Amino acid sequence: MIQRFRPYLHYLRQQRGLLIVAILCGIIAGVASGFGLPYMVKQVFPVIFAQNAAPLTPWELTLVTLWIPAVFLVRGVATYLNTYLIQRVGTQVLESIRLDFFRKLQVLPLSFFQKNSTGDLLSRGLADANQLQVTLTTVANEIIRSPASLIGSIGIVSYIAYTEQGVAFVLVTLAVIPLSVLPIRYVGKKLIKRAGRIQAELGGVTQIFSENLSATKEVRAFSLEDREVARFGRASQTLIRAQMKFVKYEKALTPLIEIVSAVGIAFTLLYAYKVHLAQETFIVLITALYASYEPIKKLGSLNNELKRGLGALDRLEEILRAPVAIVDAPDARPLARAQGALAFETVGFSYQTGELVLNEVSVLIPAGTVCALVGPSGAGKSSFANLVPRFFDPIAGRVTLDGHDLRSLRLADLRRNIAVVSQDPVLFNDTIYHNLLIARPAASRADIEAAAHAAYAHEFILSFPAGYDTLVGERGARLSGGQKQRLALARAFLRNAPVLILDEATSALDSDSEAAIQLALKHLVVGKTVLIIAHRFSTIRDASMIIVFEAGEIAATGTHTHLYATNPLYRSLYDRQQGAA
Ligand SMILES: Nc1ncnc2c1ncn2[C@@H]1O[C@H](COP(=O)(O)OP(=O)(O)O)[C@@H](O)[C@H]1O
Ligand SMILES: [Mg+2]
Repeated sequence: MIQRFRPYLHYLRQQRGLLIVAILCGIIAGVASGFGLPYMVKQVFPVIFAQNAAPLTPWELTLVTLWIPAVFLVRGVATYLNTYLIQRVGTQVLESIRLDFFRKLQVLPLSFFQKNSTGDLLSRGLADANQLQVTLTTVANEIIRSPASLIGSIGIVSYIAYTEQGVAFVLVTLAVIPLSVLPIRYVGKKLIKRAGRIQAELGGVTQIFSENLSATKEVRAFSLEDREVARFGRASQTLIRAQMKFVKYEKALTPLIEIVSAVGIAFTLLYAYKVHLAQETFIVLITALYASYEPIKKLGSLNNELKRGLGALDRLEEILRAPVAIVDAPDARPLARAQGALAFETVGFSYQTGELVLNEVSVLIPAGTVCALVGPSGAGKSSFANLVPRFFDPIAGRVTLDGHDLRSLRLADLRRNIAVVSQDPVLFNDTIYHNLLIARPAASRADIEAAAHAAYAHEFILSFPAGYDTLVGERGARLSGGQKQRLALARAFLRNAPVLILDEATSALDSDSEAAIQLALKHLVVGKTVLIIAHRFSTIRDASMIIVFEAGEIAATGTHTHLYATNPLYRSLYDRQQGAA
């Protein structure tokens, strides 16, 4: 079982010195418990309670009783140093695991997040990491001390029993120790499955929690309050049932071990009576025996705790080991500033569901072309655009930028050449200024203000009392949809990338800002290769190239006049829009 933690041992390497001190202290503490306590009893009791002996001088009395605080002092200091140091090392290992987990989340492909819920990932990153920390702490307290203490106490039991009565007596007194390992094994087997179950159910609860918090408006609008509470209650019940199943076995362990040890002590007592053992010797023996059951009990619960920790580690590792599908090829080619020529060559694409979302799509988009993607909802426009920054990779064919297969380019270089403005831009819970700065970290204050100007955002930003230092709230909650979109456009201006993707980037704008934004867009698109998906044909009509999508295929390409004359789908889409307007 300990082997499961082996891959993480390399985290310990920098802390080797501390670890060695911790282990030494653990051994001292263990021996002080297992050997020191019974030995102390052996030194003190016979002297104090000796019948028909000469009375002790005050000096002798002090010396004898000093044994007690001395043993406890050594044990106390060593225990403290041992647990403190091990925990310090352990939490640092945990910190590395948690950081690796978070780092991994940054590079996993987008498709991963469509399979795994936010709640589940949150629960793994927080609750499972936390469980691992609890495990580490518990393990830290016992992993060295208890075995050392067990060996110490077995040592002294054997020594006393041997010097008093010989080998047979040693065997009788120690016979029960291996027996008390049986409950540990039995209970441990029951626990491993249940431990993983608890963490999974905890994931379920977290998932409902996080989903609910992201749908606060829907819950009120559709009066889902009772439904949500019931749903949460059910998940919470399931979690409790899983926890209680674990506790049922976990808590049986200590009593089981104690019962087995009691039987052992009874046998020792019987045998002691038979061989006429002296009372002092018996007290020492019982102390030593008790001192040996204690670490067994602790090792037993340690075993339980390890099972829990392993359950948590499994769930963390599932993510840590998840394949990162979209990575740099080993011989990835660097790319400075791209020209921006895009080509799709018989591209096929599907999401996890397996249905073909794009089928044999081939098209050339020369550098500097403003290209509009039109078609019914669900036809594949967004999927098509998402292949360009490699949010997903095609399953057939290839996409090229300036003639290079996207998969042969360095991912960071590729993405630096692309600006994406989506329908629902996300802002970080920070100031407007910092939210714009992410588009180009080297930008000056003047650059930022110029970009905001260009995106018609400067005015509304200045209308806030704190101006550019206004905090936008979680995901930009304190701004309107149109304001967020204008900030997203300002980011695109700042980024000034040769390829620009606008996916319904103007859909949240009211007609006032729409007119202004159209102007802004005219400036933004100059000299760039632009993929623009828009509901409003006012944007589309001016595009130098239009691609019409229908059910995952390209139905036609051309200019507005050409398509309006030749493509019935395009004409009906266009006429319907004009009619609506
Ligand atoms: N993450 C996804 N997982 C599975 N199917 C998806 C996903 N995103 C989109 N789809 C499906 O792919 C098809 C094309 O979607 P999309 O490219 O978003 O269309 P459009 O942008 O033209 O409205 C739709 O049938 C949609 O249901
Ligand atoms: Mg779309």
